[in-house]
Amino acid sequence: MDNPISTRCRSHFWLVVFTLFVFWYILLYVYDWSSVPGLTRNVDTKSHANSSALPNSNSVHVPSHPNSITSTKQGSNASRNVTDVIMEEKEKPTKNISSQKDWIEPIEQIQALEKESEPLLRRNGAENGNKPRESCSGRYIYVHDLPSRFNDDLVKQCKSLSRWSDMCQYMINMGLGPDIGNPQRVFLPTGWFSTNQFSLELIFHNRMKQYECLTNDSSKASAVFVPYYEGLDIARYLWGGFNMSTRDKTSLDMARWLREKPEWKAMRGRDHFLVAGRITWDFRRVIDEESAWGNKLMVLPEFKNVTMLTIESSPWNSNDFAIPYPTYFHPSNDNEVIQWQNKVRRQRRRILFSFAGAPRPNIEDSIRGEIMDQCISAQRRCKLLECKNDKNKCEKPLNVMKTFQSSVFCLQPSGDSFTRRSTFDSILAGCVPVFFSPGSAYVQYLWHLPRDFNKYSVLIPEDDVKEKKVSIEKVLNQIPKSKVLAMREEVIRLIPKVIYADPRSKLEKLEDAFDITVKGVLERMEMLRRGIREGKNSSFDIDEEYSWKYNLFGTVDKHDWDHFFLRTDRGRY
Ligand SMILES: *[C@@H]1O[C@H](CO)[C@@H](O)[C@H](O)[C@H]1NC(C)=O
Ligand SMILES: *[C@@H]1O[C@H](CO)[C@@H](O)[C@H](O)[C@H]1NC(C)=O
Ligand SMILES: *[C@@H]1O[C@H](CO)[C@@H](O)[C@H](O)[C@H]1NC(C)=O
Ligand SMILES: *[C@@H]1O[C@H](CO)[C@@H](O)[C@H](O)[C@H]1NC(C)=O
Ligand SMILES: *[C@@H]1O[C@H](CO)[C@@H](O)[C@H](O)[C@H]1NC(C)=O
Ligand SMILES: *[C@@H]1O[C@H](CO)[C@@H](O)[C@H](O)[C@H]1NC(C)=O
Ligand SMILES: *[C@@H]1O[C@H](CO)[C@@H](O)[C@H](O)[C@H]1NC(C)=O
Ligand SMILES: *[C@@H]1O[C@H](CO)[C@@H](O)[C@H](O)[C@H]1NC(C)=O
Repeated sequence: MDNPISTRCRSHFWLVVFTLFVFWYILLYVYDWSSVPGLTRNVDTKSHANSSALPNSNSVHVPSHPNSITSTKQGSNASRNVTDVIMEEKEKPTKNISSQKDWIEPIEQIQALEKESEPLLRRNGAENGNKPRESCSGRYIYVHDLPSRFNDDLVKQCKSLSRWSDMCQYMINMGLGPDIGNPQRVFLPTGWFSTNQFSLELIFHNRMKQYECLTNDSSKASAVFVPYYEGLDIARYLWGGFNMSTRDKTSLDMARWLREKPEWKAMRGRDHFLVAGRITWDFRRVIDEESAWGNKLMVLPEFKNVTMLTIESSPWNSNDFAIPYPTYFHPSNDNEVIQWQNKVRRQRRRILFSFAGAPRPNIEDSIRGEIMDQCISAQRRCKLLECKNDKNKCEKPLNVMKTFQSSVFCLQPSGDSFTRRSTFDSILAGCVPVFFSPGSAYVQYLWHLPRDFNKYSVLIPEDDVKEKKVSIEKVLNQIPKSKVLAMREEVIRLIPKVIYADPRSKLEKLEDAFDITVKGVLERMEMLRRGIREGKNSSFDIDEEYSWKYNLFGTVDKHDWDHFFLRTDRGRY
């Protein structure tokens, strides 16, 4: 029932909408923002992409434009959004964006850019083979061809791998899990997956398959990789009362198989390494008691000689080394990484600190309850993403990343063990991690994180929280703004180092967590060889109990952190 008044109102309404649209269009698109100081960054974006990049919009979605400066440049694959490459290349962190001196007029700048980007374009056109390479000498890796019961069969049994979730969905895309697209534009259009935190064995193995210095001649190899999926193996038996012999069976098999291979003889396994996508405690059952946790893979004599890479290592053992948990981001080229770093850098962060996780009421020492209380009383300054029974909201990549991307600090207290995947999610989101024990990261990821932990994180001792001696909000609030910015920049710089690139492609210039891990392994093998040549009988003449200290500081002298590493609960650790 239309009456004339409502019709008139409606047309007025549309007139207002239209006028507003035109107004904003002119303001944002036509107006020359370069005259406004402080917006140079966004102007950068706008002038390169020649598109309607709004101030503060995320440059993730740069529409390819007919006027795109490179469309005529290279026949090879102009359809690859080269504009983005150039734009992001330009915006590399080293550029001092606030400096007026660097500012050139847009057209001039594009011409300059075209020059600057020539090597880049050539490289893009060249595809595999032509790029300058490091020599493979000293970097060859031999990969054992294992019977399928040690790896592929476990993937096929994915239905039985977890009691709680269907692991099969996480096995696809070479272990990256389902593509999650870009809901609410929180991620990038490509490169984001719903990756399970225990998928590292698969991802790492698939990356290794295209490592550039593989060899079939083990005598030439500096290291021997054993692609055993021991995490998937033990995951079947951790819960449900399986007896010890069931839990240990495949590991014992693996040890026997390795010991009998000719490759073992060369260094009695010391040049071997493998990757375990679960925490070390799942493989460190030191006593033969049915009630004790896990299997005894890592305490078998064979594997004491092998370098074990895990997502959490033991501070008190010397054969395991921690490498990052897989996150949700698996870029397929350098450009995606740089795009992401830029997006994260531009993010508005309205929340001082956040926490995603659940309390641990059954662990007496846990500070999680106190942390959650403090978060709640900080009200709008803290965001709590609680993992309650409602379908694990805290495990949804969208919720986690959205929260972390709008927070300045992200709390990373220990949970069932020292480390958390969340630490890497927070780095990925440009959120400065706050630790409560050096065991959560500083003594762990020695190859991937800077030794100078103050540069990228905050440490609030857990005892102070437990005894309610400290207000987390106050501590974080008191950090000067410039210091916070410097820390965030360092965190953003770390992003490539803690992610695993998509195993189906390759980063060109940036080193990812895989590359850094392989380097670490090769250096370690070199050190072990040197030790053997020089007649040392073992890599470690020190007490294993102090390996955390030795690895980090190179000495076992008394240290302020000793109290963090008292082994109070031998049943747990
Ligand atoms: C694209 O940018 C160039 C150089 O600034 C300019 O000459 C051209 O008019 C722009 N095109 C559009 C559609 O904005
Ligand atoms: C260009 O890239 C697309 C997608 O990356 C690919 O399908 C196509 O084959 C490439 N074309 C050439 C000429 O390399
Ligand atoms: C280029 O970017 C546009 C928009 O982001 C996207 O739709 C298109 O698929 C991209 N093309 C290639 C070859 O990646
Ligand atoms: C940026 O450049 C200005 C002047 O060129 C300099 O004073 C400032 O320290 C620089 N900032 C950074 C972060 O390099
Ligand atoms: C090693 O041997 C396998 C099977 O014979 C072959 O498919 C593979 O390409 C070889 N790899 C290298 C690096 O030579
Ligand atoms: C352990 O469990 C397996 C399968 O349930 C069973 O066959 C085996 O006899 C058990 N071993 C011991 C020592 O109880
Ligand atoms: C481990 O290495 C030591 C020293 O090289 C060697 O004596 C020992 O036999 C090795 N263990 C196994 C199971 O091969
Ligand atoms: C290793 O060498 C040390 C001295 O350097 C010696 O005390 C120790 O007994 C040796 N251990 C073995 C297993 O040979």
